[in-house]
Amino acid sequence: MKTPVEGFSKLSKTQKIDWIATNCTQDPKAAKQLLEQYWNTDPRVQKLHDEFIENTISNYYLPFAIAPNFKINGEFLAIPMAIEESSVVAAASKAAKFWMDRGGFKAEIIGTEKVGQVHFIFKGEKRRLKEFFIAAKPELLKSVASITQNMEKRGGGINDIELRDLSDKIQGYYQLHCTFETLDAMGANFINSCLEQFAKTLKELALSFDEFSNHEKNIEVIMGILSNYVPNCLVRAEVSCPVPELDNSDMDAEEFAQKFVQAVNIAKVEPYRAVTHNKGIMNGIDAVVLATGNDFRAVEAGVHAYAAKDGQYSSLTHAKIEDGIFKFWIEVPLALGTVGGLTSLHPLVKLALEILQKPTAKKLMQIVAVAGLAQNFAAVRSLVTTGIQKGHMKMHLLNMLNQLGATEAEKLQLVAYFKERTVTNAAVKEAFEKIKAE
Ligand code: MEV
Repeated sequence: MKTPVEGFSKLSKTQKIDWIATNCTQDPKAAKQLLEQYWNTDPRVQKLHDEFIENTISNYYLPFAIAPNFKINGEFLAIPMAIEESSVVAAASKAAKFWMDRGGFKAEIIGTEKVGQVHFIFKGEKRRLKEFFIAAKPELLKSVASITQNMEKRGGGINDIELRDLSDKIQGYYQLHCTFETLDAMGANFINSCLEQFAKTLKELALSFDEFSNHEKNIEVIMGILSNYVPNCLVRAEVSCPVPELDNSDMDAEEFAQKFVQAVNIAKVEPYRAVTHNKGIMNGIDAVVLATGNDFRAVEAGVHAYAAKDGQYSSLTHAKIEDGIFKFWIEVPLALGTVGGLTSLHPLVKLALEILQKPTAKKLMQIVAVAGLAQNFAAVRSLVTTGIQKGHMKMHLLNMLNQLGATEAEKLQLVAYFKERTVTNAAVKEAFEKIKAE
C-alpha cells in the first residue's frame, strides 16, 4: 500500500477490489480474477455473505468435512467440522470408530451459567455502597424487564446480581457481577444489552440515593460487558473400557494404557506440554464450533482461562486406570448457541445443525466436548505409539503434491508409492521429479 485510503467503506465492492488490486498486489489483474473466482455463483448467497461483515471483497473458504460414527450417550451422530489442518478429521473419525465398539462417549452438562459485569469506580464509604446496592437491586432488575421478558417466558433470564468489592486491587473499583441463563442462545447480545441498561440505571439511582454524600452520588461507570470466562457453563465427556480392550496393532494394551495416562499426567503438570496437548483438543472443539456458526474466539479465550484456573496452565483432559478400567475424560466451559447469530443465516451452519439433528445448546456443548476428547485421544494415542508424523505426513501428502502441481494421475501414482514409505518434503519432491522425468 503506497498511500492511505479515505472512505474505503463507502466504495462499491468493485471499487474496493480495484483499489486493493491496484495498490496492494503485484499483479492486479490476477488478484481481481482470484477474488471474483471465490464469489458464490448465486448472487443472493453472495449478498448474504457480503453482509455478514464490513468491507467484504470475496469469500475465504475452509474445508467443511464430516467425522462420522460418533456414539454419544447411545445416539449416533455424524459431526460436521470446518478446519484447514490435514489429519484432524481423519483422527476424529478414527477415535469415533474406536470408541463406538467400546460403549461410545458419555457426556453430561454440569452447568449453563453465563457471566457479565458492570465495572465501576466508587470513592466513598463502602458500607453506604452496600446499603445502596441492597436498595438498588430490585430497581436494576426492573429496569431490564423489557429486555428479559422473552427470555424469561422461555425459562431463562437473569440469575443474580452481586456487588463485588475489588477496591484492594484498584482504588474504588467495584463490580456488579451478573449471572444469566440464556438457554439455546449464546446470549452475547442479550447479556450486553442488560449490562448497558444496568450501568445506566446504576448511575441514575446513585444520583437520587439520599444517604450518599454529593461526591458519592457520582458513580463512575467504566464499562459493562459479558465475560467469556464461563467456568460454570461446563460440560463433561468421558470414555472408559477395561484395559485389555485397548488393544491396537501398535502396542500391548496394558503398556499403552500406562503410557497414555503418563502422557496426560505430563500435560497436567508441565505447561509447555499442556499448551500443545490442549491445542490438539481445540483442533476438535474449534472445528465443530466453527461449523456450527459459534464464536470460536470466545470459546478459545474461555477454555484457556479455565485451563489455568488453579494458578498454572494445565491439561483439560484427565486419565486414570482404576480396578483394571481405563478412564479418560474432559471438562470444558463452552458458551454455545443453536439459535440466533449466524445459526439461521449461514446456509452451511444451518445444514451443520441439521446434520447434528438440530441440537439444543446443551446437546451441542456435549457434542463439542466429545469432539475435543476424541481429538485428544487420537493425538495422544499416536504420540505414545507411532508418533504423529507418520499419519500426519500421509495426510499432508496431497497438499504437497498440489503445491508441486501434480496431475490427478501423478497424485494417484505417488499416493500408492508412499503407502509403505516415509513421507518427507524431500522424498516427495524427489519421487515427483522422477515420475516427471519418466
Ligand atoms: C497438532 O495439531 C496437535 C498435536 O500436536 C496435539 C498434541 O500434541 O497432543 C498433535
